[in-house]
Amino acid sequence: MLIKYLQEKLNAQVITVTVDVGQGEDLKAAGEKAKKLGVLKHFSIDAKDEFAKDYIFPAIKANALYEGKYPLSTSLSRPLIAKKMVEIAEKEGANGLAHGCTGRGNDQVRFDITLGSLAPEMKIIAPVREWGLTRDEEIAYAKTKGIPVSDSAKKYSIDASVWGRAIECGLLEDASQAPPEDAYEWTTSPEKAPNTPEIVTITFEAGVPVAVNGKAMVPLALIEEVNKIAGRNGVGRIDHIEDRIVGLKSREVYECPAATVILEAHKDLEKMVMTRHEVLFKQQIDAQWVFLAYAGLWVDPLKDDLDAFINKSQENVTGEVKLKLYKGSLQVIGRSSPNSLYDKNLANYNIKTSFNQSYSKGFIELWGLQTRMYNTLKKASSKKPKAKKA
Ligand code: ARG
Repeated sequence: MLIKYLQEKLNAQVITVTVDVGQGEDLKAAGEKAKKLGVLKHFSIDAKDEFAKDYIFPAIKANALYEGKYPLSTSLSRPLIAKKMVEIAEKEGANGLAHGCTGRGNDQVRFDITLGSLAPEMKIIAPVREWGLTRDEEIAYAKTKGIPVSDSAKKYSIDASVWGRAIECGLLEDASQAPPEDAYEWTTSPEKAPNTPEIVTITFEAGVPVAVNGKAMVPLALIEEVNKIAGRNGVGRIDHIEDRIVGLKSREVYECPAATVILEAHKDLEKMVMTRHEVLFKQQIDAQWVFLAYAGLWVDPLKDDLDAFINKSQENVTGEVKLKLYKGSLQVIGRSSPNSLYDKNLANYNIKTSFNQSYSKGFIELWGLQTRMYNTLKKASSKKPKAKKA
């Protein structure tokens, strides 16, 4: 549709790019569809490994959950797609960049800012945003032009990457109603999941997962494996009200099986190896990182600055986390690390250790000094007779 518009209305020679970030799209069919529409050239890029290593892994280190819920499965892929578009546009000598985003979502923000930063000399065109067509009108228009639209695309608006699947529109717009079962494809419904729990162990090295159940894997294969394990146990379904960058609130449904498990495990391991000061401070850094990644500011220098801190903070995040998956629920049930700051003997009430509890009384005396002073003053002033108003 976009192609037809660019050719007919702008008289443009069109080059198309499909970037595979794990959306499960038939890449060959996409290329053939483009060629049928008379594009000058079509490029098909498998970016799944790069996506896993350079986009998802940093998000794991940053415990990235937008508004505490959404693992950024769509958001993270946008700056990578934009980067690939620019690489090809430069190589082919293009003078403009087009994307198919509407004027209501987050993706237009991510594409416009990333494309505009990486290729400031090129014109950015967003025909769908300019048209202002509704989804139904878009589907009807595609029909008149003989452009095929899949059944599921008619029912929901779907976007997927290896890090998860987002489902929007259709019946899901009624935020008071549970998502229909057919919205989900990667996760078994918890009711139908196996009746025995599955235990999975994830090994981390310097903040990133490197093995599942003792088997070493490259980033992409590891994520795919955890997607399968969690998916068959009904783990990873997310339903929340999300604040879009453009101010709208939207009801979002996701299934992010691997992300849900890996992020939970990573956060747990961090708490075992980091000091309390690191844990609390990093929560603020993580929140800022997540916001930038969600809000289209992946290429802002602040993100690099935060990455420098986060990478340094991960040096000790090495160890194993054991999780139990059962009918949609997920629980960490054990963890261990050579860098653990947890010492079972120190915390034990029955053993004499280097933790000298006779110091506790004095510590509390100083720790609560100002709090006690404040409350003592408050009590004294509440007992004083009130001054009469003149
Ligand atoms: N709200 C999410 C985001 O902005 C997901 C959007 C997914 N898009 C879709 N067409 N379903 O990152």
